[in-house]
Amino acid sequence: MTKNFKLYSQYYDLLYQDKDYEKEAFYIHNLIQSYAPKTKKILELGSGTGKHAKLFSNLGYSILGIEQSAEMAEIARKSAGNNTSFLIEDISVFRVKDKFDTALSLFHVISYLTESSTLIRTFENVNNHLKQGGIFIFDVWHSPAVYHQVPQKREKKLSNKVIEVSRKASPVINTETNIVEVIYYIEVKSKVTGEILKLTETHPMRHFSKPEIELLAYATGFEILHSEEFLSKTEPSKETWGVCYALKKNKDV
Ligand SMILES: C[S@@+](CC[C@H](N)C(=O)[O-])C[C@H]1O[C@@H](n2cnc3c(N)ncnc32)[C@H](O)[C@@H]1O
Repeated sequence: MTKNFKLYSQYYDLLYQDKDYEKEAFYIHNLIQSYAPKTKKILELGSGTGKHAKLFSNLGYSILGIEQSAEMAEIARKSAGNNTSFLIEDISVFRVKDKFDTALSLFHVISYLTESSTLIRTFENVNNHLKQGGIFIFDVWHSPAVYHQVPQKREKKLSNKVIEVSRKASPVINTETNIVEVIYYIEVKSKVTGEILKLTETHPMRHFSKPEIELLAYATGFEILHSEEFLSKTEPSKETWGVCYALKKNKDV
């Protein structure tokens, strides 16, 4: 198990090695500076291994990350550094006494919430933890792109000095629920011992249209301030896979 976990965390690092966390952190920092420039305290939902948190703390913010995976939170605690802390909790139900200036949820965490009741509970929970006028920034899969581009089977092969990884993704599209179930078949091979770890992960991902987010925001005490394609800042369209929304808390719920 210990060996497997070592391989598993190495696989995660390898898989996301081409993701530009620094560019993303600056992109989000600019949005915060535009919509809530007095921000000091950030609440981060689904904080993963703390890569964004570390960069935000370097930019002068203090961060509380909420993460349901104990393994991910443990990595974050060890690596994210000053002015960061992490709780192993579910984002839809956690409670802390503090109130925050800005809440963030990055890399499609909200798309993992496939039930409408959980989405409403989560947005209400974010509202309860924000100061009046606080903002909530998140990125989600965009329905027009999912139906226009239609997710296909994909294979990714990666390797470093220690491991080789092959990941096959097989999407199952459900048009009645706006959920795409992405089934990942993963093989991690240790170049050192020859040990092979086989994993199957199913990620049910919900996608959203702007009117759906508008409705969700309205029902949970928010209004949409801004939406754009994540990172490129272009107008969302049927070509846009990930849309970034900035909401403002306009009332308590
Ligand atoms: C794709 S990862 C993104 C991690 C991180 N935000 C990043 O950008 O690297 C999604 C994360 O959301 C977490 N997550 C999903 N649903 C959650 C929930 N209900 N409560 C807490 N964490 C959740 C997962 O455990 C995972 O770490």
